[in-house]
Amino acid sequence: MPWPPVDDTELFDTIAEEIARQSSTLQLIASENFTSPQVLRATGSVLTNKYSEGYPGKRYYGGNEVIDRAEDLARERVKALFGAEHANVQPHSGANANMAAYLAMLDHGDTVLGLRLDQGGHLTHGSPVNASGILYDFVSYGVTPSDERIDFDQVRALAKEHQPKIIVAGATAYPRLIDPVPFREIADEVGALFMFDAAHIAGLIAGGAHPSPVPYADIVTFTTHKTLRGPRGGCILSTAEHAAAIDKAVFPGLQGGPLDHVIAAKAVAFAEAAHPSFPEYAAAVVANASALAERLGGHGLRLVSGGTDNHLLLVDLRSLDEDLSGKKARLALDRAGISLNENTVPDDPRPPYITSGLRIGTPAVTTQGMGVEEMATIGDLIHRVLTHREDESVLAAVRAEVAELCGRFDPYPGLEA
Ligand SMILES: Cc1ncc(COP(=O)(O)O)c(C=O)c1O
Repeated sequence: MPWPPVDDTELFDTIAEEIARQSSTLQLIASENFTSPQVLRATGSVLTNKYSEGYPGKRYYGGNEVIDRAEDLARERVKALFGAEHANVQPHSGANANMAAYLAMLDHGDTVLGLRLDQGGHLTHGSPVNASGILYDFVSYGVTPSDERIDFDQVRALAKEHQPKIIVAGATAYPRLIDPVPFREIADEVGALFMFDAAHIAGLIAGGAHPSPVPYADIVTFTTHKTLRGPRGGCILSTAEHAAAIDKAVFPGLQGGPLDHVIAAKAVAFAEAAHPSFPEYAAAVVANASALAERLGGHGLRLVSGGTDNHLLLVDLRSLDEDLSGKKARLALDRAGISLNENTVPDDPRPPYITSGLRIGTPAVTTQGMGVEEMATIGDLIHRVLTHREDESVLAAVRAEVAELCGRFDPYPGLEA
């Protein structure tokens, strides 16, 4: 019996509205991007119908010859892209990738070192409200008060004091390059494993704009949907030594059936990231973030750490107005068609749902083809909104300018829901 004849215009009209929103407003959320039409196509394919618990060549269901080929393509491509010995492409998300890595390497209650949430770390780096912080004993390092960069003296001192089983590097809101070498050295000094969460910067690493942690880390986790520009999902790379433990932790440890359509889309994204043009994209993302930082700095806004080396910047709004919280600023910018998120700045006196900062990222606007000239315009628009945040006529005028700008850089011309 075929499917009920539901013509779901209600839902598809909603998707059409989201296509219009993404095309007519500025997407400056540092963890977002526009995937390619090929990635969208694979994600919407019939591979969504398949059950394939297990791994290529060792499944618990029949009919997986084609799925095996798709997953093998994804695995081989990502291994070649990053020069890794082993890859697991099944994690449904970055959070799952991290939890699987912990499950593979740790016993309940083991000690781990990670970056503090309010200094740029991720929830899965030991937040007390996250499974990582509930199941394991996380000790947090931070950034120095003087230059707001990772405090390696503190990492070393804490590692010596607490003898962690894993040292986790990587961040969700840190505007500077993360050098894997000192982490490896400290891990070796205390006999810890070194895990690098490259969720945000996987695309910058693949494109050669940032150093690769793969030769130094025992495990590298990342999301595929941020700077890497693929479908939503996670991935784990490891040395051959940890391959079996990682695979066992993902399935059957943490997940059931893999999302085969998403794995196929990951394979597409890995091929796109291996294309000779991808380094140009990664370099442009970084150049755009620098240009935007310079423009906002020129307007008197303080940038955490003084600037950026990567795809994001953190603005300390207290430099403009002590009363302006990140949440208030984000809501005003949203009304003006500029989409970004509030974020704590180091030692923020405000709670995480209010904050004193904004996180601004350039991966999506760079995919659209915007360059440093447009970043200057965007910097001016953001400043105008922040300084006229109660004035609805200014917000409407900015919204119109944003729509005009985005109209010249439509990411998906002609795309229908
Ligand atoms: C550093 C880091 N790790 C892990 C994640 C989790 O990714 P996901 O949202 O896919 O679970 C994120 C997401 O922002 C992140 O920034």
